[in-house]
Amino acid sequence: MQPIEEIKPQQSIELLKSLHILTRDGKINQDSRRKLKQVYHLYQFIEPILTEINQIKKDYLLVDHGAGKSYLGFILYDLFVKLTKGKIIGVESNAILVEQSERLAEKLQFSRMKFLATNVKSASSLIKSTVDIVTALHACDTATDDALNFAIKKNADYIILIPCCQAEVASLLKKNKAQSLKKPLAELWRHGIHTREMGSHLTNVLRCLLLESQGYQVTVTELVGWEHSMKNELIIAKKTKNKKGNAAERIEDILQEFNLEVLKSKFLI
Ligand SMILES: C[S@@+](CC[C@H](N)C(=O)[O-])C[C@H]1O[C@@H](n2cnc3c(N)ncnc32)[C@H](O)[C@@H]1O
Repeated sequence: MQPIEEIKPQQSIELLKSLHILTRDGKINQDSRRKLKQVYHLYQFIEPILTEINQIKKDYLLVDHGAGKSYLGFILYDLFVKLTKGKIIGVESNAILVEQSERLAEKLQFSRMKFLATNVKSASSLIKSTVDIVTALHACDTATDDALNFAIKKNADYIILIPCCQAEVASLLKKNKAQSLKKPLAELWRHGIHTREMGSHLTNVLRCLLLESQGYQVTVTELVGWEHSMKNELIIAKKTKNKKGNAAERIEDILQEFNLEVLKSKFLI
């Protein structure tokens, strides 16, 4: 069979078939070509981080929260980790998905990949070793926040988040709308669709400030065309020695302005 141009020599054909990027007979179609392009697009952001960590650490651990079918973990392992050193742990609350991932890792002999059937909140006590990189790709709603707290607690060097369905702040904005509408600023989220967008935007802003308050340097980029939705925010945080001086104060002000004080314990640590 002719080699497929888009597939890198080190990639496992078996894995690409299991992820339905290649058809059962090893062919690539229009749809999978698009999927592969998305995978490489995300990988181009993560690869430099893996390279840096691989160079400076004796060994390293990446924990992927809300792993689902561990799509991200398998791709990172296949493209990078299997050729170097390092381990990946996928944390996923759905035990059936974890079992499937375990079987696939065994079949592919990806021996430095492990999976935990647990929720993100409990992962911190289950993973005792040093954690270098934390990823959470579309980890539902508050699982992203739990992943963020996990990473901060573990003092991870890098945190890579692609949040999704940030419903908690939006529902609080909705609940307190009548009170908020005393100020003209609340026009920004008066209509239902704007409440959802504002809730999602505010959540990510607060997450970035939380990271900055804990000494992370944050980059926010747009990731276009990823599987689940057309547009995504990619938040990459790198641990530095400097905590942003006014970040905690800003969190407090924002929570007060938007009637979200009940979230203090979540964003102010
Ligand atoms: C939308 S899927 C994303 C899966 C994968 N990261 C991806 O992008 O293909 C979200 C996954 O997070 C898992 N999940 C949601 N809340 C969780 C929690 N608190 N702890 C662990 N897993 C969680 C769900 O079971 C689901 O498999």
